[in-house]
Amino acid sequence: MARATKKPKTEKKVTRYTYDDIKEPRTPETGHTSLLPADELVVTLPMDNGWSKAIEVGKLPEGDERSVVVDMDPAADPVLFWSGKRNRREVPVLPLQRNEIVSESRIAQIIDRARRAAEEQSGAARQGHLFADLEKTLRETDRSKRVEFYTHEEGWKNKLICGDSLHVMESLLHYENLRGKVQMIYIDPPYGIKYDSNFQQRVDSTKNDEKDAADDVLTIKAFRDTWALGVHSYVSYLQERLYLCRELLSDSGSIFVQISDENVHLVRTLLDEVFGRKGFCSQITFQKTGSQETTLLGTTVDYLLWYTRDREALNSRYRQLYLPRKAGDLSLDRYDHIELADKSTRRITAAEIRGELPIPDGRRFRTTSLLSDGETSTPQEFVFEGKTYTPRAGNHWKTPPARLAKLAALDRILVEGSTITYKRYADDFDYVPINDRWESMQIGRVRDYVVQTAESVVTRCIHMCTQPGDIVFDPTCGSGTTAYCAEGLGRRWITCDTSRVAVNVARKRLVGGVFAHFMTRNGKVSSDFSYKVVKRITLESLAKEREAESIDLFDEPLPDVDALRVCGPFEIASLGRYSVEDWKGYFVREPGLVEAAKLENYIGVICRLYRRDAAIQGATGLVHAVAETEKERIAISVGPLSGRVTGKQIHDAVQDAMASGILEVHVLGWAFEANVGEVKSQLEKRGKVKVELIMIRPDTLAEGLKATQPEMLFSPLALPDIEVTVAKNGKEKQLHVTLTGVALFDRKRRTTEYKSADSGYVSAWYLDEDYDGDCFVDCQMFFDFKKAPNIKAALRAEVDPDEFTLKLTSEPFPVRGYKRIAVKVVDVYGNESTIVQELA
Ligand SMILES: C[S@@+](CC[C@H](N)C(=O)[O-])C[C@H]1O[C@@H](n2cnc3c(N)ncnc32)[C@H](O)[C@@H]1O
Repeated sequence: MARATKKPKTEKKVTRYTYDDIKEPRTPETGHTSLLPADELVVTLPMDNGWSKAIEVGKLPEGDERSVVVDMDPAADPVLFWSGKRNRREVPVLPLQRNEIVSESRIAQIIDRARRAAEEQSGAARQGHLFADLEKTLRETDRSKRVEFYTHEEGWKNKLICGDSLHVMESLLHYENLRGKVQMIYIDPPYGIKYDSNFQQRVDSTKNDEKDAADDVLTIKAFRDTWALGVHSYVSYLQERLYLCRELLSDSGSIFVQISDENVHLVRTLLDEVFGRKGFCSQITFQKTGSQETTLLGTTVDYLLWYTRDREALNSRYRQLYLPRKAGDLSLDRYDHIELADKSTRRITAAEIRGELPIPDGRRFRTTSLLSDGETSTPQEFVFEGKTYTPRAGNHWKTPPARLAKLAALDRILVEGSTITYKRYADDFDYVPINDRWESMQIGRVRDYVVQTAESVVTRCIHMCTQPGDIVFDPTCGSGTTAYCAEGLGRRWITCDTSRVAVNVARKRLVGGVFAHFMTRNGKVSSDFSYKVVKRITLESLAKEREAESIDLFDEPLPDVDALRVCGPFEIASLGRYSVEDWKGYFVREPGLVEAAKLENYIGVICRLYRRDAAIQGATGLVHAVAETEKERIAISVGPLSGRVTGKQIHDAVQDAMASGILEVHVLGWAFEANVGEVKSQLEKRGKVKVELIMIRPDTLAEGLKATQPEMLFSPLALPDIEVTVAKNGKEKQLHVTLTGVALFDRKRRTTEYKSADSGYVSAWYLDEDYDGDCFVDCQMFFDFKKAPNIKAALRAEVDPDEFTLKLTSEPFPVRGYKRIAVKVVDVYGNESTIVQELA
């Protein structure tokens, strides 16, 4: 419990940014997805700016109508070739399915509880928790409309998606309607071909241990797809994704590709192809922590390749960033004059610039022309220090002679040869525009993820190329650096990763975040922030006796010191290949598709691995195979490869089996919806049927990575163990949930074992206090912060350090509308299991 201490002077407001004013199509919950019309299920991704034609003909024929997406001239611009390069590819389009809404912030809950405890002690009453209203609206989105997703809109929610970036991007284009709407993409693909350097195996450690080898089916698949032909596959992988990034970006949008020296040359040529050479903005070098050991030169930098769709459109959106000028800064070299204490001026000598002689103390300045092109009819004579000056032929003064006199009075004019010039001091504006060399960006960081990018790098890109409220997308989420930085800066975000470990690391990082609340111009985030302003003295401001020009420092938004902010709500989604209906009807609608044959093959392979004697029934119903001996008759139903087994699939499989007189049904799946345990027991209670839910081991189809024996590939679905206790608080009943056990797959023995919840295998657990049977809403969340965030100043009370460690008993909560709770547990390997419990 929180200990009350002395009140600090102020209690900070706790805020979140939400985007209810920005509407988007509603993402369906798991099992409610409807697919696109059959003829749109697979789309062709064109990856040809004309290069394939150029190869045939050497140059494009006159008047040829080419499929050029940008103004690249393949006859003139070099193009990269590699083994397996294609100019188009068929890609299935899968819808996103929302599995979870993160409506709360762990930090907000801790702050809330600590404050409440302090108030109870002082006798003051507090109402509800900090974001009770927000949670209410998230829950009460009209359930009756859930079957017509994508046809109506709701307030924008940020998105953390578990899935392959290729499919995620197609889904964002075709289902989420985001073509041309993304303002910035940050992509940090795997750099090299070493498996371990690309993926992290545990949520709680950046160290990859042999015994913990990743067993996440999507991760393994992504790894194999990316590297089957070494660097050739890698370039193909990037080519496909970059063409899709281009479709998502708005005209003024920017893409940053983070890459090391190993492949920077290949990736840059590829970007030239996709965005055209005119789309190139900069190759930024950023300094890493230290140098790798090598026989030749150590590597100290990584690169950011920055491209845009349209340079002109970008210019109108680009926000120039500045750094304060430091003593000795190279930018001072351009200020090649000095004004000494006695007001005399002279040029700095070459020896002084080279550092061979010290530069004396004084005010640095440079001289700039006072002339502009073109003649004018107004008189131009100007008398300075007794001599008359006129502009040379074809020119006029930048400012009329009367104003030149004002500059002269301010000692801003210098005679150089036969003309006069303007004295521009370095301290007229003591900032320098940032350039393409970003120093010391990674120094002193604590990492949550083995290949984590420094926040300072991503933050700077966001400041330069986006405004608050814009969408930022990262198809290589990792620990969620881009999402975290975007959240911190009030940008909307979408990110995805194939790795469950990455998704869970990112989620934890986001819900544990504490951010500054920046002051908005008119209350809405999208109205922009107010920024620190610095003054720039210019020739014009002096000549016209105006105030110096104001420059916004766009990377220094002004924080509201009376508030701190926590992460806004976001949804966690995956790609659903098939809802139950589509899973059933797939063949009926599209018998000719190659995909259909693959599906049948997939079902056949899984069923035979499960039971060698399985007689395959096909994929049109939900009984996919039947295994029959003298003693038993078992119907087998297989769940989708990239989705969850839903309660409805189990229900329908049992109906199909019973219709054929089969009373035992085994449902095999890679992942299961939260309520499946409940569905199983209801079905078993109602009929004489027996239902087994079987987990398929994640690397079952990943031959080549590990030798697998069929009997070790399947294990009964193990749900976490919880205890619900009731306590009375006055008239109201209050519940507590305690997590007592977690099911863990033992990699060595290939069995599922129960471990006690305090055995160190739980990475996080989440409680939905009022589970609606569709979408898990995180009402309470528990994990180990490792390092307690600094929120002391915001509190009236100090927080018990125990709040920042993994707690196994929930906070009390009342029984609510659905009289049903759900608990989701994430183990240290990123595996999730969920149990639903009815409250009698
Ligand atoms: C270099 S890491 C990104 C790290 C990230 N910038 C950060 O700061 O944590 C690359 C990530 O891309 C993910 N990845 C690899 N192939 C992918 C794919 N096809 N789709 C989505 N994510 C993928 C990996 O799982 C890995 O987490």
